[in-house]
Amino acid sequence: MKEVTKFYKRFLFNFKKKINLDTEVIDDTPLDVLFNHFGTDKGTEVVNPYSLNSKEVHGHGFAKFYEEELRYYKNKKLNILEIGTWEGASSAAFVNYFPNAIIYCIDKNFRFKFKSKRINFLNCDINNKRDMDRFSSKFHNIKFKIIIDDASHILSDMIKSLKSFFKQLDSDGIFVIEDFNAPVYFDVLNDVKGEELLINDLLTNIKKKKNLSPIFYLIVIKNIYLKIFRMLKFLKERQKFRILLS
Ligand SMILES: C[S@@+](CC[C@H](N)C(=O)[O-])C[C@H]1O[C@@H](n2cnc3c(N)ncnc32)[C@H](O)[C@@H]1O
Repeated sequence: MKEVTKFYKRFLFNFKKKINLDTEVIDDTPLDVLFNHFGTDKGTEVVNPYSLNSKEVHGHGFAKFYEEELRYYKNKKLNILEIGTWEGASSAAFVNYFPNAIIYCIDKNFRFKFKSKRINFLNCDINNKRDMDRFSSKFHNIKFKIIIDDASHILSDMIKSLKSFFKQLDSDGIFVIEDFNAPVYFDVLNDVKGEELLINDLLTNIKKKKNLSPIFYLIVIKNIYLKIFRMLKFLKERQKFRILLS
């Protein structure tokens, strides 16, 4: 029955009118302005996107972090995966911020309201095996430079995302888990007490290299690789600089 309903929802979704991002290209705009423009709470001044009645203006102010960490990739040809897109506001901002990126968007609901030649939306619940098989059969050979988990912020879901998608992260890629400490503050989000490490403890263990399963050793290796990669780039840039100066 659930599958029939989903089939029906997918059918309706395909016919739903969407906002075409390819007709309005916003060049060289700071990420926070884009976040606010499209209305994701990653911005600083956004009307609560999850409530129809609220006029409350707020925002997490994540653009600073994203620009610092991701500026390096801005004009590169790359694939981005966003897990948990709601209506697609942050994906729309990323389409504009990364002019050469293809954004893969997954969400368990059908609220996505944008379209672009550079957006691939897939309705997918990461806890549904059929959905995840569909994701794999469509995208298993895609490597992502950036993966952002902004889905439920439930600990088991964050771990699930890491385990499912980390293998598709490029060797010099970045895996972002938004609000990774939410299960520390909200007990209801820590649904696997004692069975899984909190992300914070996981990061501490990665630093201390203790109690890690193979997938998390992969994280360590990729992080080291990333640092070396950046260092090499930095040295090259310095060399160029020296040549210019001499
Ligand atoms: C915080 S909202 C995403 C906001 C969006 N990234 C933005 O910045 O505008 C969280 C989204 O995660 C989705 N989500 C929650 N659990 C999920 C799951 N198990 N699989 C896929 N999506 C999920 C919800 O449907 C919701 O749309």
